Amino acid sequence: MLILGLETSCDETAASIIDGRGGKIKILSNIVSSQIEIHKQYHGVVPELAAREHVVNILPVIDSALKQAGFSCRNFINKKPPFKALAVTAGPGLITSLLISGETARALACIWQIPLLAVNHIEGHIAANFIDSDFKKIKLPAIILTVSGGHTNLIIMKKIGKYKIIGETLDDAAGEAFDKAAKMMNIGYPGGPIISQLAKKANPKIIIPPLPRPMLKTSNFNFSFSGLKTALLYSLQKDSDWPKKIPEYCKEFQSAIIDVLIFKTLKAAKKYKAQSILLAGGVSANQELRKKLEEEINLKLSQTKYLIPDLNYCTDNAAMIAAAGYLKFLDKKFTTWKKLKINCNLEL
Ligand code: KG4
Ligand code: ZN
Repeated sequence: MLILGLETSCDETAASIIDGRGGKIKILSNIVSSQIEIHKQYHGVVPELAAREHVVNILPVIDSALKQAGFSCRNFINKKPPFKALAVTAGPGLITSLLISGETARALACIWQIPLLAVNHIEGHIAANFIDSDFKKIKLPAIILTVSGGHTNLIIMKKIGKYKIIGETLDDAAGEAFDKAAKMMNIGYPGGPIISQLAKKANPKIIIPPLPRPMLKTSNFNFSFSGLKTALLYSLQKDSDWPKKIPEYCKEFQSAIIDVLIFKTLKAAKKYKAQSILLAGGVSANQELRKKLEEEINLKLSQTKYLIPDLNYCTDNAAMIAAAGYLKFLDKKFTTWKKLKINCNLEL
């Protein structure tokens, strides 16, 4: 069954066509148009500029996704398209960005007379784990660590597609902390991939003051990263030589974030007797996090399965939205072009 997915919740314009059969999701096309070049001068996403770019890019991106999957828009003139449904991000995200894929999806669903699948962006990130694998075989309950630019959540999944948040960040998201730290050191945007690359160059002989591991001792599953960011600022202010030690500061900052994420994830997995641990969201592209979490699971919870998304589907894309849409399709959770609601604060 073919599903077209659209995503414009932040600064990537994305379209994808997937084929869902039984418990398997195959990607036929996955097109992402990134706006990093536009936003990097501001060290963050400027909503007005993002929305304008989405308007320009959305139709060419859909056209490319159709072509990559072997179709052409011309095929659908006066004919029903081969898609059983159209999946689109309904929120959360930047409202002016969300509206572009939302209204495009509404128009296409109206013209093509196909149902819509309203997908939560976080659900999409989680569903990135279901691509190219048999999701019906995932051992449950599962604990999911969702780490992106806008969210840091610990989630329990007792049934595929049923999510309950058990912990969240009280302030900055993990990705946001990476981005703000990179801005502080003036090393570029987005901060996560840049900090992780620089951290690899750290010299173990250069010692810098350790940064805190926030909320490690609290009994709940919440996170807080804004104090860590301030601690980095104070360390830099006290060290006039810091520009010569950027890789070392990057490594320590990255380690502080990873230590807390892993500690709380394992604690939640133990408490809820998780059979699987899943990683999701843009920060799941972080090699050190992927590797260290695997090592800790092997060491402390060796019976627990560990799933991570393919690197192609970690940061924002529409394949993950179409994949989450497929699960909704199986559950018959459709909406229509008239009823689709876009909500920038949509909850999981
Ligand atoms: O999921 P995503 O593409 O967008 C949101 O939904 O927010 O996540 C983007 C975030 C950014 O903050 C970016 O710095 C971070 O993911 N990120 C990374 C890496 N790649 C992207 N953080 C750490 N290491 C990475 N390799
Ligand atoms: Zn995202």
